[in-house]
Amino acid sequence: MSEKLTLPLMGCGTWAWGNQLLWGYDPSIDSQLQEVFNYCVANGVTLFDTGDSYGTGKLSGRSESLLGQFSRNYAGANRENICIATKLAAYPWRLTRQSMIAACQASAQRLGKPVDLVQMHWSTANYAPWQEGALLNGLADLYTQGQVKGVGLSNYGPKRLKKVYQKFVERGVPILTLQVQYSLLSTYPVTELGLKQVCDELGITLIAYSPLGLGLLTGKYCEKGPLPKGIRGLLFKRLLPGIRPLLQCLQAVAQYRGKTLSQVALNWCICKGTIPIPGAKSLTQAQDNLGALGWRLSDGEMTELDRTAANLDRKMVQNIFQTR
Ligand SMILES: NC(=O)c1ccc[n+]([C@@H]2O[C@H](COP(=O)([O-])OP(=O)(O)OC[C@H]3O[C@@H](n4cnc5c(N)ncnc54)[C@H](OP(=O)(O)O)[C@@H]3O)[C@@H](O)[C@H]2O)c1
Repeated sequence: MSEKLTLPLMGCGTWAWGNQLLWGYDPSIDSQLQEVFNYCVANGVTLFDTGDSYGTGKLSGRSESLLGQFSRNYAGANRENICIATKLAAYPWRLTRQSMIAACQASAQRLGKPVDLVQMHWSTANYAPWQEGALLNGLADLYTQGQVKGVGLSNYGPKRLKKVYQKFVERGVPILTLQVQYSLLSTYPVTELGLKQVCDELGITLIAYSPLGLGLLTGKYCEKGPLPKGIRGLLFKRLLPGIRPLLQCLQAVAQYRGKTLSQVALNWCICKGTIPIPGAKSLTQAQDNLGALGWRLSDGEMTELDRTAANLDRKMVQNIFQTR
């Protein structure tokens, strides 16, 4: 029987920790990232989401390596609750269950300790359905062999989830978590496909990734710029005019509550019964994000935010691997 994992109300995403292409990572910020890590853990935000595909070019695996290093350096409160959740990519060359076991062992090597929660990064159902069975078997093996404390999925919709759940039940492997893109800018598949209800029925905790809409919901980016460099800037340019009513609504709620836009956006995820895992690159961002804890939006505020979000003519693009 595997050890139990304790999941906090909020986690911290680390996609940017090593990614130069999309996030402009530079190793000179590593000391800052250690501060983010320390602050999160000390304040009970003990879940860190990473992936074996995180880190661009020669920095491949950097996010996991940094998390290993930061965990070793950390000696403060809540150390025992640190949960490193990695995602194993369904690379086209990963074809066997053994390849998943080897991948998890490589992640553990970079972390310098066993992986706590291992997640299937995405389903191959949309483009290579024959590949998935072996990979999922490998994922379940990791649990039955006691190499990880928990198993989760990512980018699965309700239909696909139910199928995998049934297979895992047959093997006595519980699915602890499912992470999908979820924010006020992205309610598919949670709302539109009814994923939250299915997760509740199956006892699976829903994790909300990109809960700040890649930074858009912090309110710091506007049409006049400056926008982030590269793909994110191009995407924001396209989305910003159409999401103005939502930013205005967030601003009004934030002002009334004495909170920031990020805190309102993250609190919305928590009130929807999910665990948001906002990415943070600096202590200031982490401090701001943790201000989403310890209070709740009212039903009226939630309704207003939902209504405004539903009426937008632009939404965040969906992950191409998201299944139904
Ligand atoms: N399973 C999957 O396929 C998948 C896909 C995507 C993400 N994820 C996970 O989800 C995590 C979070 O999503 P994300 O990183 O894509 O996007 P996000 O959390 O929506 O946005 C994070 C970015 O917003 C900015 N930011 C964060 N807090 C801020 C604050 N308080 N004030 C101002 N700016 C702030 C930072 O970027 P700037 O400073 O550059 O603006 C930060 O990198 C990822 O790190 C990753 O672990 C998983």
